[in-house]
Amino acid sequence: MDLRRLAHLVLLLLASSSSFITFIGGNVVFPVHHKFKGRERSLSALKAHDVRRHSRILFDVDLELGGNGQPSETGLYFAKIGIGSPAKDYYVQVDTGSDILWVNCVGCSKCPKKSSLGIELTLYNPKSSSTSSLVTCDEAFCTSTYDGQLPGCRPDLLCQYNVVYGDGSSTSGYFVEDNVQLDRVTGNLQTAAGNGSVIFGCGAKQSGELGSSSEALDGILGFGQANSSMISQLASVGKVKKMFAHCLDNTYGGGIFAIGQVVEPKVNTTPLSIKLDLCGKFVVKLSLEQATDDFLSILERAHYNVFLKDIEVGGEVLTLPSDVFENGFRQGTIIDSGTTLAYLPQVVYETLVPKIMALQSGLKLHTVEDQFSCFQYIANVDGGFPTVTFRFEGSLSLTVYPHEYLFQIKDGVWCIGWQNSGTQSKDGSQLTLLGDLVLSNKLVLYDLVEQAIGWTDYNCSSSIKVKDDSGAVYSVGAHNLSSASALIIRRTLTFLLLLIAVLHSFLY
Ligand SMILES: *[C@@H]1O[C@H](CO)[C@@H](O)[C@H](O)[C@H]1NC(C)=O
Ligand SMILES: *[C@@H]1O[C@H](CO)[C@@H](O)[C@H](O)[C@H]1NC(C)=O
Ligand SMILES: *[C@@H]1O[C@H](CO)[C@@H](O)[C@H](O)[C@H]1NC(C)=O
Ligand SMILES: *[C@@H]1O[C@H](CO)[C@@H](O)[C@H](O)[C@H]1NC(C)=O
Repeated sequence: MDLRRLAHLVLLLLASSSSFITFIGGNVVFPVHHKFKGRERSLSALKAHDVRRHSRILFDVDLELGGNGQPSETGLYFAKIGIGSPAKDYYVQVDTGSDILWVNCVGCSKCPKKSSLGIELTLYNPKSSSTSSLVTCDEAFCTSTYDGQLPGCRPDLLCQYNVVYGDGSSTSGYFVEDNVQLDRVTGNLQTAAGNGSVIFGCGAKQSGELGSSSEALDGILGFGQANSSMISQLASVGKVKKMFAHCLDNTYGGGIFAIGQVVEPKVNTTPLSIKLDLCGKFVVKLSLEQATDDFLSILERAHYNVFLKDIEVGGEVLTLPSDVFENGFRQGTIIDSGTTLAYLPQVVYETLVPKIMALQSGLKLHTVEDQFSCFQYIANVDGGFPTVTFRFEGSLSLTVYPHEYLFQIKDGVWCIGWQNSGTQSKDGSQLTLLGDLVLSNKLVLYDLVEQAIGWTDYNCSSSIKVKDDSGAVYSVGAHNLSSASALIIRRTLTFLLLLIAVLHSFLY
């Protein structure tokens, strides 16, 4: 049973001067071979670049998804992207709770070699891609990500990063720039290769679950709204709109993930409680010793937070302290696709769970793996337990059905997906974090232009409609990247169909 990756919510970029100069234990000196040594560009070249950029049509992206939100199975969703020239495929976890893309890099220590998810892992090698370049610490990306120059920066030193996730796992390495290939939407359920240059992390050292899990991936694709995320970078050069949507299919696996403006289904939205412009700098320079609770709360604010007003169980509003979801510093409820379950403040948890179990007073709860409350139940859970509805500002609500908030670990044994987040920080604020447990089986839309987020119940095995810059509306369908054997079967099938088609044209 997979109980990991419970809370990928803290992005922590640190740059202590000692780790900066002696990178990962050794005295590794990375040679810098810039394609634009000196990087001076004439004014007319810049202008030509700008003209090109504004005449270019933004494209919509169809990201192929795999995985599922079942804690007893994969517990995460991942997407396939191409990186480098020639492009190779990488499978990365999609995570709206963090702000950079990174992949395991050649020569890394503690990188996973095999994955039980039925995917082939690939190490990225900047040297084998003709379009790669290393990012030095004096470049604009680095100085703006770290809000100033890193201490000890010289033009020949790389821009390094270290991200610590909420489950304690971490990745560190250096930034590189390369061509990322994405499927651009060109027709109904049709795509063609699209690309853009993106700065991402070359992961040299992974720790915790990221280095040791059997359900390993090549990296993580952060969909946060900081300037360092892939979507922000592509939007800033006029490649894509700053809008995306996902529909995570918890029943069959995979689902829909599109970058662009969704026009169908229609989705009601609620404002983000932290506006990008109010937030200022997303990433702060600090050393490990400075990573205090207060600091973590500042970072948490930077993600997709909304105002939760109340919770209904089986149509009845829970009686809760009025300020329980205000969370002071933390500003509201975090929406995070990189977290498997849902975390509620202690008082909410202790009110909600008895209410859910009220109709089933005969059930005996037992604890599994020290953290899950489980019970035996044979009948259909949707008949025996109430639905839970979260109500947000702007009359937006989110309904979670029993088969979504309960997960089955074996025949007849179910566990409660709601988790007690306890008291998280010194200022007494408590964490409300909604992960895949409640985000699955819904179309969830992130509009970073209007600074709003919304959702609606949806069949994630079907398709949605997106509108591109030219006004064309196309459908984007579901994908289910799955086990290698399934892929092989599908390929053989295509081959056979092709063969039949050829024979047909030959015979007639
Ligand atoms: C990237 O896209 C551009 C324009 O669509 C195209 O001309 C170029 O060949 C593509 N590059 C790669 C490496 O696919
Ligand atoms: C998606 O893939 C998983 C894993 O191979 C498989 O169990 C599931 O049935 C697939 N779903 C669909 C809709 O094909
Ligand atoms: C992010 O980029 C925008 C423009 O692309 C810029 O105006 C803004 O200051 C940047 N934000 C930060 C925090 O660096
Ligand atoms: C969801 O959509 C798929 C594909 O269109 C369809 O086969 C399936 O029956 C739908 N499921 C439900 C519950 O409507």
